Amino acid sequence: MRSTRSIVRVAILMAVSLLLVPACKKEKKEGGEAPTPTGAEGKAGEEGKAGGEAPAGGGAGSIALLLPESQTARYEAADRPFFEAKFKELCPDVEIVYSNANQVASDQQQQAEAAIAKGVKVMVLDPVDGDAAGAIVNDAKSKNIPVISYDRLIKGGSSPDYYVSFDNERVGQLQAQALLAKLTADGVKNPRITMINGSPTDNNATLFKNGAHSQFDGKVKVVKEDAAANWKPEEAQQLMEQFISAIGPKGFDGAYQANDGTAGGAIAAMKAAGIDPKTKPTTGQDAELAAIQRILAGEQYVTVYKAIRPEAEKTAELACALYKGEKPADGVVTGKVNNGTIDVPSVLLTPIAVTLDGAGETESVADTVVKDKFYGEDTVAQICKGDYAKACAAAKIQ
Ligand code: BGC
Repeated sequence: MRSTRSIVRVAILMAVSLLLVPACKKEKKEGGEAPTPTGAEGKAGEEGKAGGEAPAGGGAGSIALLLPESQTARYEAADRPFFEAKFKELCPDVEIVYSNANQVASDQQQQAEAAIAKGVKVMVLDPVDGDAAGAIVNDAKSKNIPVISYDRLIKGGSSPDYYVSFDNERVGQLQAQALLAKLTADGVKNPRITMINGSPTDNNATLFKNGAHSQFDGKVKVVKEDAAANWKPEEAQQLMEQFISAIGPKGFDGAYQANDGTAGGAIAAMKAAGIDPKTKPTTGQDAELAAIQRILAGEQYVTVYKAIRPEAEKTAELACALYKGEKPADGVVTGKVNNGTIDVPSVLLTPIAVTLDGAGETESVADTVVKDKFYGEDTVAQICKGDYAKACAAAKIQ
């Protein structure tokens, strides 16, 4: 059984590589055997299950998109739809097997195993736990399934084929620079801040933290610092409650949070303790709708806008090329990032700090999220609902 399958596999690979000789060369070196298009490698009975409509000249196959959580709006609102739309345009007959792990690493492991058992030909994986996910990559690679490490870097002794993300250390620098500039502009001498970092199992959280410290250290006193496990906003809220009861409402001048979800939790804790969040500049990240509205209301100072669309679309381009056994188009891959095992060919996009009116080095809400229609055609209507209409008019958001 095994040897028959191997012979069939070798024959198919030879046929595919004859068709794609120039295209496959690089992929074979980086990603092992070129993936066969059409699910031909799987058992006949599984093809139908995995496939959508059959393309002319072969059965349809599938790829996997595995996202880490849904408490942060971006994944279901942006990453998934943008990826799916682009991938369907480029690889119309290929099914996307989608799962969201809700920040439970063991669930993600099972979702990956299920996708592999289903016969996916490419895996796009945004890991809950960057080290633990190394085992998923090793499993996939042993079955010649190329893996794209999406947004968060996969480590754990693994060799993902590509990494697509933002310059995440820069995200932390931008957050910290904006907060420092605001505290200085407000005339705060010897500023004291609290810090709530992201999930310690997410390599991005380490990069955000390092980037932020590179700006803060020597310039501010970090009076309290901790990490919100699994990026949970409610965990951030509890941490901020604890910070406030330890240092008192006057014990800090500003608050660093690694993303908008944790900023929401921290700001809720301030309000509950009777602190007006307008008096404590705060950071976040993701340009979530709720955060942009807090910025309009003056409750959050800065967020970091990462245009998810190009991130998801470049990943879709790579995934479709890998599915077809082709080399990505020139210019898609722009650098390399070391994951502790190899230099992973990478695409790193540029983040932008956003404040209401674009103070200092930041850009304004109007020039970023609104201009790009980040929440869709009705972006302005979504932001400027109800009580936010006045603030929108004042900020020329229309
Ligand atoms: C992402 C952030 C997100 C956080 C929580 C990070 O890896 O880069 O955009 O807010 O995870 O999901």
